[in-house]
Amino acid sequence: MNIRWFGTLALSIVTVSALAQDFPSKPITFVVPFAAGGPTDTVARQLAESMRKHLNNVAIVVDNASGAGGTIGANKVARATPDGHTLLVWHIGMASTPALYRKLPFKPLDDFEYLGIINDVPMTLVGKPQLPANTYRDFENYIRANQGKLNLGHAGLGSASHICGLMWQYAVKLDKSMATVAYRGTAPAMNDLIAGTIDVMCDQTTNTTQQIEAGRIKAFAVTTAKPLADHPLLKHYPTLQEMGLRDFNLTIWHGLYAPKGTPAPVLQKLNEALRAALRDPEFVQKQKALGAIVPAANDRRVTPEGHKAFVANEINKLKAVIDAAGQYAD
Ligand code: MLT
Repeated sequence: MNIRWFGTLALSIVTVSALAQDFPSKPITFVVPFAAGGPTDTVARQLAESMRKHLNNVAIVVDNASGAGGTIGANKVARATPDGHTLLVWHIGMASTPALYRKLPFKPLDDFEYLGIINDVPMTLVGKPQLPANTYRDFENYIRANQGKLNLGHAGLGSASHICGLMWQYAVKLDKSMATVAYRGTAPAMNDLIAGTIDVMCDQTTNTTQQIEAGRIKAFAVTTAKPLADHPLLKHYPTLQEMGLRDFNLTIWHGLYAPKGTPAPVLQKLNEALRAALRDPEFVQKQKALGAIVPAANDRRVTPEGHKAFVANEINKLKAVIDAAGQYAD
């Protein structure tokens, strides 16, 4: 082995470990690919508050880079400098968009480093306050009787609210798909639901729980396989399976990602900070209050390998769901 090669190797080892020691060397940006105030934004801000405690109290700022169902923000991170200071907080969109976008500007499994899953979030079928229904049965009958007159709000093609809306329409076998209104996130969509401008939405409990509690919107069912028995409010709503939609089971997961090529020691520091946040009682409690579940410490999805394997499986699973329900895609 010649001296020059050895010298280069030694230098690169020193550089990378120095990189890790100095990391973070400036504020970290969490890119949230949806509008501020929505469920993804809520998760990101609560996570940032906890993770920073394990990263020398670095400032973590949120950049709401919305549009195109979250793919604009995701692509921004895929193209960012791979130094660990620009990260993506995204949900099932990482797995649903390959089946919905012919020209996706990034490859989910090749263009990102996987840092771990953050949480699992149930969804709720909700309606505007004026909707003339108080039970799920009334709700479904009303929608069926008024096809072509009602609209559903979502956060763009491939968003959680879009996927849930198309799965529900497919499950109840509507004669034709509902008119839809796409927003840059379900925060602006929620404002229109409360105002009665849109009729229906399927949205994450992290965005609906407080509105249901305040009586600003109506809730009819939850999308999980099992009832949310541990939640003081959400336990009162049936699952869609209990309402006869066999096998309906949708939970939204959120993950943390860095651009491909981020140095391994930096990735390790970020994964350790994420796992510490997932054990932070304050973060866990805040998430629980909104119906979200933080993965257990032994959940394989909190490891980079487990997270990536999970998303690879979800890509195949959601492709099958979208192919089956595609006529309701929009
Ligand atoms: C979604 O429907 O994908 C999310 O609720 C979007 C958001 O976080 O606003």
